[in-house]
Amino acid sequence: MTGIAPDGGGDQDAGGGQYAVTGGAVTGDPAIRFDRVSFSYGSVSVLERVSFEVRRGEFAALAGPNGSGKTTALRLILALEEPDAGSIALFGVSPRAAEPVGYVPQQAVLDKAFPIRVREVVRMGRLRRWSRAFTAEDRAAVEDAITQTEIGGIADRPYAGLSGGQRRRVLVARALAARPPLLVLDEPAANMDLESEERLYLTLGRLKERSTILIVTHGMDHILNLTDRIITLGAEHAEHGGRA
Ligand SMILES: Nc1ncnc2c1ncn2[C@@H]1O[C@H](COP(=O)(O)OP(=O)(O)OP(=O)(O)O)[C@@H](O)[C@H]1O
Ligand SMILES: [Mg+2]
Repeated sequence: MTGIAPDGGGDQDAGGGQYAVTGGAVTGDPAIRFDRVSFSYGSVSVLERVSFEVRRGEFAALAGPNGSGKTTALRLILALEEPDAGSIALFGVSPRAAEPVGYVPQQAVLDKAFPIRVREVVRMGRLRRWSRAFTAEDRAAVEDAITQTEIGGIADRPYAGLSGGQRRRVLVARALAARPPLLVLDEPAANMDLESEERLYLTLGRLKERSTILIVTHGMDHILNLTDRIITLGAEHAEHGGRA
């Protein structure tokens, strides 16, 4: 495992970037490239000259204490925010021009009271902005995602009636159904019991190399054997960090 810092910066970058990168096992085109990315919300600086790469087919973990900018980094990848400085490329093009990224958000964006069944939530993963018929391939992808996340037993239940951990698995299934070349997950195991968490990582491990995966997790020890690369934000705080 070697440190990667395209601008020669790393955690001691003179530009002030507070991050560290370890690992980098798989070769190929970069799936994600941050080049000296800075971002702030108004006067609150969140990312400062952050550079890292995740290569195609890698399983990468994004670590760092609460408030270090992990969710923000994912939002930049999803083109929900724009960097103030620096650039981001996904498979060599800007996030807006890239293929849709699979996303499991930290907070469930679906209203719990929304009257919808689990299978329909997963089907949402196959919807595109333009309307078209639901094909046999779409159906197969939905059933495959349901099988992989082991939610077949609850697929016909109302989403609103699920436990927090079950809902997380449904959102993972929704993201998998899209078969995205790049999948980003923001603490997908939050609310999960240990057994479900380990099953989730097994599922993600099977996707490795077909998809590129970037995962935010506090349970780093569970995924170390899967992880090709660890990107740590707010590295100077990391040893005091952890959960609030
Ligand atoms: N919409 C927003 N407006 C203003 N400040 C924000 C906004 N979203 C996040 N922040 C601030 O930006 C910083 C980084 O937030 P972010 O959610 O990216 O951190 P995080 O690493 O994902 O934290 P956590 O581990 O708690 O999920 C925090 O100080 C947060 O308060
Ligand atoms: Mg977050």
